[in-house]
Amino acid sequence: MKSDRLQGLSLGIFTELANRKQKVKQQGRKVIDLSVGNPDLPPHPRIMSTLSTWAQDGSKYGYTLHAIPAFNPAVAQFYSDRYNVDLQPNQEILQVPGTQDGLFQLALSIINPGDYALVTDPGYPIYETSVKLAGGRVYYIPLTEENGFFPRLDQIPESILKKAKLLFINFPGNPIPQLAPPSFFEEVVFYAKKFDFKVIHDFTYSELVFDQERATSFLNIPGAKEVGVKFNSLSKTFHMAGCRIGYVVGNMEIIQALSLLMSHTHYGIFYPIQKAAEEALKSGDSFYRSHIRIYQSRRDLVIKELKKSGWDVMNPPATMYIWAKIPLSVSSTEFCYRLMEDTGVVLKPGSAFGKNGEGYVRINLVQPEVQLKKAMNLIHHFLLKQGWV
Ligand SMILES: Cc1ncc(COP(=O)(O)O)c(C=O)c1O
Repeated sequence: MKSDRLQGLSLGIFTELANRKQKVKQQGRKVIDLSVGNPDLPPHPRIMSTLSTWAQDGSKYGYTLHAIPAFNPAVAQFYSDRYNVDLQPNQEILQVPGTQDGLFQLALSIINPGDYALVTDPGYPIYETSVKLAGGRVYYIPLTEENGFFPRLDQIPESILKKAKLLFINFPGNPIPQLAPPSFFEEVVFYAKKFDFKVIHDFTYSELVFDQERATSFLNIPGAKEVGVKFNSLSKTFHMAGCRIGYVVGNMEIIQALSLLMSHTHYGIFYPIQKAAEEALKSGDSFYRSHIRIYQSRRDLVIKELKKSGWDVMNPPATMYIWAKIPLSVSSTEFCYRLMEDTGVVLKPGSAFGKNGEGYVRINLVQPEVQLKKAMNLIHHFLLKQGWV
């Protein structure tokens, strides 16, 4: 029944994790789920009131087909204010129904069967999936502790670089919450020009950066617009994940290709959601500053509690994730299954993000501090029981 295209897609570990979680719940155990990156905080009240006001207007339930006139200028203003990047609203910005969907359709619009795409391992799964569904081939760039969790472009064989059509980068990153300095993006632009491939910078966590730091936008680098685009959405910055609204900005050729495909596949985003997104983008940073403080405080709590248990993990400079090396000599899935069955705490095994994720787990900060503290206590007792501390 399934198309050949789907043969490479497995339900694998995500389904297994969900099934086991269900069983643990049925046994009456309270589950603390730190495995899914779904923001738990509400959007700013003004975003919600804009959405509900427009939802009362019966004339706004038709297809929108494309972005409302104010959306692209609001994105352009946001990038000019936040990143000093100039964007042409009509040619260098395209609204997408979330970064996930946008990335999927992007691969279909750019990749020909047999084309290579360079994808980090570990990496956010849609990059690999979208390339494979488009008939492309994936070359995995390892992200390891030894290379500081940065893609080493100089270690990719020249024969692959010559065949590459796309490079996916994701900073601030998921699952590895790393920030990249401008010099890394300069290197990316240099390689993209030299080997004639395009760059997709997934900037979904752009504003969720701690300790008064700022993320570098790929488009700040001279020459970047000639070689690439940046995806972003309102999901994490404005806590509007369920609204499914995002955008891609930068290289016109890429945007035109994606826009052509979407003109056939997409009928536009619900008008009230677009108005709420416009309100969010125009609000400056006042709508997400408090979120950053909350995530930073959760991060500090979790790191402190893990340290108390003798589990010394990297302090993430950004995002809602901690990437933690497993303290026991078991696989990451085994660690997560045992932890869940013993304590009800659910973490995501690193191997779910690629071969090089083995040996790590991802801990999400998407629960209130009381819950996180409870989870860390349970983890502490679990590690004690395993004889690790
Ligand atoms: C790195 C990364 N890119 C893209 C997405 C998808 O985001 P959106 O809600 O914009 O589709 C996520 C969601 O978790 C993510 O972590």
